[in-house]
Amino acid sequence: MLEGRYGEACRRSLELIMAIAESYGCGELIKIKSAHVSGISYKNIGDAGLEYIKDLAEEGAKVRVRTTMNPCGFDLDKPWLFGVDEVFFEKQLEVIRSLEAMGVQPSLTCTPYYSDNKPRRGDHIAWAESSAVIYANSVIGAYTNRESGPSALAAAITGRAALTKDHSDERGPSVEVEVLAKVSDYSDWSLLGFVVGKLVPDGAPLIKVKRKTRTTGDKLKCFSAGLGASSATSIFWTAEQDLRGARDLERVVVTDEDLKGVRDEWTPTRRPTVVFIGCPHCSLREVEEVAERLRGRRVREDVILLISTSRSVYKRASELGLLEMVERAGAHLVKDTCLVVSPMKLSRNDVVLTDSAKTAYYAETMTNATIALGSRRTCLEGALEV
Ligand code: F3S
Repeated sequence: MLEGRYGEACRRSLELIMAIAESYGCGELIKIKSAHVSGISYKNIGDAGLEYIKDLAEEGAKVRVRTTMNPCGFDLDKPWLFGVDEVFFEKQLEVIRSLEAMGVQPSLTCTPYYSDNKPRRGDHIAWAESSAVIYANSVIGAYTNRESGPSALAAAITGRAALTKDHSDERGPSVEVEVLAKVSDYSDWSLLGFVVGKLVPDGAPLIKVKRKTRTTGDKLKCFSAGLGASSATSIFWTAEQDLRGARDLERVVVTDEDLKGVRDEWTPTRRPTVVFIGCPHCSLREVEEVAERLRGRRVREDVILLISTSRSVYKRASELGLLEMVERAGAHLVKDTCLVVSPMKLSRNDVVLTDSAKTAYYAETMTNATIALGSRRTCLEGALEV
């Protein structure tokens, strides 16, 4: 590859992966089974990112492993919902077309593990998108670095990633987090992840929850997103895992007060104008739950209710009649995008209500709107007529 026998794009991509490996001090590479590329939205990457991707495609780059795409700036079938102008529309399509020319699947989701790109326990992969990285490492048991958009794409083109500690069984918890706080709803898990990340921004936390705390894969997905938004970690651990050697760790405690402190900053003061559910993208089960709650109800005239999911879940939801249930209530089930990566214009007069700490955090830094965090039930009730 370095001699250019597989083309210039492959040679350049391998150089990038090798430079990353050197920077970790290891200098070795590992073969990967899949890749997931972030930095798809034109809003985030701009012209420089578009040119970078177009150059690779024009040089004939092809991915060597199954590779999926993170969300883009709008739902390709409903661009009108996201305030997209003609220039944005065209440039976004150029990004997607260039990646497709390299063989990247236009999955346009941050939850590829639900169907488009499902790693197995023990697989070595090269994923970008912090929520998906943390989920893949911690919940599935795969091995991936926390790649960036360009490094995940370079790994896809070369089929190799930098062999770091994240790709070995040397990885392990560095700090024990005892959770005394009560967590049950999706937003609780999302907020817990966010608070843990703030407390241990560079650590690999071992999470110990109270004995009766119940969780699900979907809630751990929300936890992963919250954790990824406020920390640099690529993994968390749970007490159920076999953690021989994880002794004498530094200990941190998370109480109800810790969660309340952040929640208070995002307490709704006015009625929402935009309600967003689906960060990370909803699973089919979550879409079912939302559709059920919308049955026989109606979204208020002055609010937009967005529920975002992946294309594959959207298709299934449509086949099962869930899309119709959502639309009958006046809500929008959307795919391919999310509030954070879309160019949707929000003004000072807008109030965004969400059940995701990650969306709350980024929406707050990127817009002038007032941001509020609530449980999924609060979000739906806030959008519906009484
Ligand atoms: Fe996914 Fe957007 Fe959240 S990419 S993790 S829904 S910020």
